[in-house]
Amino acid sequence: VAIEAVSAVQEAPAAAVIEAPKDATILFGSQTGNSQRLAGKLAEKLKGQGVQVTLSSMNQFKTNNLKKAGHVFVLVSTHGEGDPPDNALTFYEFLHGKRAPRLEETKFSVLSLGDTSYEFFCKTGQDFDKRLEELGAQRIVDRADCDVDFDETASAWIASVAGALSSSAGATAAPASAAASAASVSLDGESEYSRVNPFKAEVLENLNLNGRGSDRETRHLELSLEGSGLTYEPGDCVGIYPQNDPALVERIIEELKWNPEEPVAAGKSGETVSLRNALEHRYEITVLTKPLLEKAVAYSGNEKLAELVKPDNKEQLKAYINGRDLLDLLRDYAPWTIAPKDIADLLRKLPPRLYSIASSYSAHPEEVHLTIRKVQYEAHDRERNGVCSVQASERLEPGDKLSIFIQQNPNFKPPVNPETPVIMIGPGTGVAPFRAFLEEREELGVTGKSWLFYGDRHFVTDFLYQTDWQRMLKDGVLTNLDVAFSRDTKEKVYVQHRMLEKAKELYQWLEEGAHVYVCGDEKHMAHDVHAALLTVIQQQGGKDSEAAAAYLAELQEQGRYQRDVY
Ligand code: 2AM
Repeated sequence: VAIEAVSAVQEAPAAAVIEAPKDATILFGSQTGNSQRLAGKLAEKLKGQGVQVTLSSMNQFKTNNLKKAGHVFVLVSTHGEGDPPDNALTFYEFLHGKRAPRLEETKFSVLSLGDTSYEFFCKTGQDFDKRLEELGAQRIVDRADCDVDFDETASAWIASVAGALSSSAGATAAPASAAASAASVSLDGESEYSRVNPFKAEVLENLNLNGRGSDRETRHLELSLEGSGLTYEPGDCVGIYPQNDPALVERIIEELKWNPEEPVAAGKSGETVSLRNALEHRYEITVLTKPLLEKAVAYSGNEKLAELVKPDNKEQLKAYINGRDLLDLLRDYAPWTIAPKDIADLLRKLPPRLYSIASSYSAHPEEVHLTIRKVQYEAHDRERNGVCSVQASERLEPGDKLSIFIQQNPNFKPPVNPETPVIMIGPGTGVAPFRAFLEEREELGVTGKSWLFYGDRHFVTDFLYQTDWQRMLKDGVLTNLDVAFSRDTKEKVYVQHRMLEKAKELYQWLEEGAHVYVCGDEKHMAHDVHAALLTVIQQQGGKDSEAAAAYLAELQEQGRYQRDVY
């Protein structure tokens, strides 16, 4: 497409008004790859219009080029408590700091990705939008804030940006509809299958990795990619379109005394399916969000709901939606006037669940393996089930099919140089991608050093993939293995405690150029592991806390400290 763009410019008739080719700088901040993929789509689209495109992750972007950029497009997701993704952090700080340039000559627009079930929905994108304006830049397309079902909003934003650029050039670009533009650009590789056109993969194997008596249940799923043309690399993810619990769907339908066979819209595409099918496969029913409750007021005869969504009752609303689902809402705020046709207006589309791939394609051609921990707990007097994980553990057998796609994750990749040492920290299901990394190294005969930190509750029942690690230690693919079983001893031990015990060797590896990978729980584990890394660098490198932070930030910028955290 880059070549097409060049020829489009060259073929312009010589007599035409000579106009400098438009330029666009597309900057993404992406944790799981969604913003990055959308940034790629925008880049393709603009190149097709003859625009000179610079596409870069925020942290890789040379900030002194910012002032020169005519158009800046920012695509960024928000995490946890409103935080930017790892590869947006330094740019975010630069732009919000005193060194940020004035941008009076710059035109911009922002696409933000987020989740309305979080309090700081799309905060990072909103911050960029506000800051660019403060710096004098001119907004040419309004910011779009996407919820988890981002496809339509994002495609419409891409079409608007493309339209704005072509109209300002005086060209007569056809007004692309959102759906058409989404379909016309595919960046998902050779396969015809993608997020919008998932592959129905057959389940080959579904095993519980935990031993008898464990309080955990973790499924090892093996799926067939045969006939799909899909491939992947270590670090990539699989997206699964799960099925809502049919028993929960049944109770919702009963609650409203609906007919489960009534045809309803399956989305905005015009396709219709039965109500039961729509609630099982198309719409989200296990999470309540503020926008959902605000819309629901129109269908509820219960004044208390109107009261709850008032701005004054923000804290009550937050407390109410936490841990509750659609069935709770229906029971708590009856009577209802919702008709089956209204669900398309009320509910979010059921978003795919992403899982880090646990296998190497070279080691298992035409297969993909996943490690899925069952999420099940009690809240508000009812058992709550993780949609995908409970389906995997209770309603999925060999021979069944799952709708999947591959989501590339360029931000979580083994070193290119096989001699580069790797340090992998992955407690619990966080170990999944490291099975992929190590299998790949085994397959390729890589001889560089590798070190795995693994942890879970109990050695006897929870040591996921123990026999794989033993084989890899034996054949030399895995050099060091340190484990922390948190509930076998009186005092809890976690992976970061093992890291601190091995501080000297760990720092040596870092100084030798090792890459560090962290996968798993973001809120607690990844945060504590980050702190442990800082301690190791401070202690062993004789640095103060500021110098240690700079050392780690430098690693991050060089792609030597990568995280896949959730
Ligand atoms: P726990 O459940 O005993 O608290 C995988 O889930 C492993 O990660 C478990 O052993 C779990 O211990 C542990 N874990 C919990 N919180 C952690 C944290 N903040 N840092 C590292 N590991 C943690």
